[in-house]
Amino acid sequence: MSDTIRVLVVGLGRAGMVHARNHAGTIPGSRLAAVADPDPAARERAATELGCEQVYDDPVRAAAEADVDAVVIASPTFTHADVAVAALDAGRHVLCEKPLASSGDEAAKIARAARASDCHFLMGFMRRFDAGFCRAAERIEAGDIGTPLLVRSTGRGPGLPPEWAQDPARSLGLFAEVNSHDFDTVRWLSGQEFASVWAVGRAAKRPDLTERHPGFLDVAMASFELDGGALAQIDGACPADYGYDARAEVYGSEGAILVGDPAARGPLLLSGRGTVETDAVRSWRELFAVAYRAEDAHFVAVARGEEEPRTTLGDGLRALQAVLATNRSMDERRQVSCDELPVA
Ligand SMILES: NC(=O)c1ccc[n+]([C@@H]2O[C@H](COP(=O)([O-])OP(=O)(O)OC[C@H]3O[C@@H](n4cnc5c(N)ncnc54)[C@H](O)[C@@H]3O)[C@@H](O)[C@H]2O)c1
Repeated sequence: MSDTIRVLVVGLGRAGMVHARNHAGTIPGSRLAAVADPDPAARERAATELGCEQVYDDPVRAAAEADVDAVVIASPTFTHADVAVAALDAGRHVLCEKPLASSGDEAAKIARAARASDCHFLMGFMRRFDAGFCRAAERIEAGDIGTPLLVRSTGRGPGLPPEWAQDPARSLGLFAEVNSHDFDTVRWLSGQEFASVWAVGRAAKRPDLTERHPGFLDVAMASFELDGGALAQIDGACPADYGYDARAEVYGSEGAILVGDPAARGPLLLSGRGTVETDAVRSWRELFAVAYRAEDAHFVAVARGEEEPRTTLGDGLRALQAVLATNRSMDERRQVSCDELPVA
């Protein structure tokens, strides 16, 4: 392997361009060597802006054939398995955007390929690289709030996601597309695994979209029992027109910790009109810009053998298993044990 890690970014949409710009920019030891996207306009935009040498229209062929060391998968969720297996079989390290896949079978294919490979597989859970979330995790780990008893995690997306992501058959729906990070947050901050779930959801704001995409939801809520005795709650909403919102609270036996509160971000403007204002964060790209860069830098450091992976395939599998159980609970209107859905 060369000293510089040559990176292929697959999927040049919203998430892919964040990663592509990072690797084309200032990440030490990294170079954006290839991009892949079936959409000519997306390829053209990336190639023009980022000046990349290898440009592919077929994501799976790119993952197998491009002259690279590492692959970032940021294509639609239903494509992750084929691209990941091709990349792992060809001996490339992989950073895969959340959620891991759009079914348990696809996740099992990725797990088989990862087990047969010497390469690393990292999940794109960027909250694990956000200073605020990391500090919260450190304080919980240090025992500052005692034993976690109750965890709440909220994820709200600013506008409608791309068309494919509005379709639960292709994206696994709101809990996967918007709340995957919350599933990871609950596991991470509690140090416990999901045991059972009871969930409800509605297309409350955009019921019209259920005609085009049966099962579309724009508000949803799930309550969980965790295997160490704690309880958890995840809620999601999209589109939340005021912006992007990612916050969590852990209540413990000796205190509580809050992270991501939009009112705490500041600055607060106390105006002469008697109002108090702060700016909403419009997008996840803005709120987590530093975290995405840290995540991409970590991926390169792992590929260079300098760091151990901080997010693993196991994290992706556990989060996906809980998403699948949550969707089943909602569909069947009953409490579902996560064991009903073994994933890989
Ligand atoms: N970490 C995060 O916070 C975050 C944020 C947004 C999206 N994501 C994830 O990233 C992935 C991509 O999401 P996005 O919002 O960037 O999507 P997007 O629709 O904006 O972009 C996807 C790109 O992939 C291309 N593509 C590649 N293969 C394709 C195929 N077989 N069919 C159709 N299009 C194909 C599309 O042309 C498009 O340019 C998803 O898994 C999503 O859940 C993660």
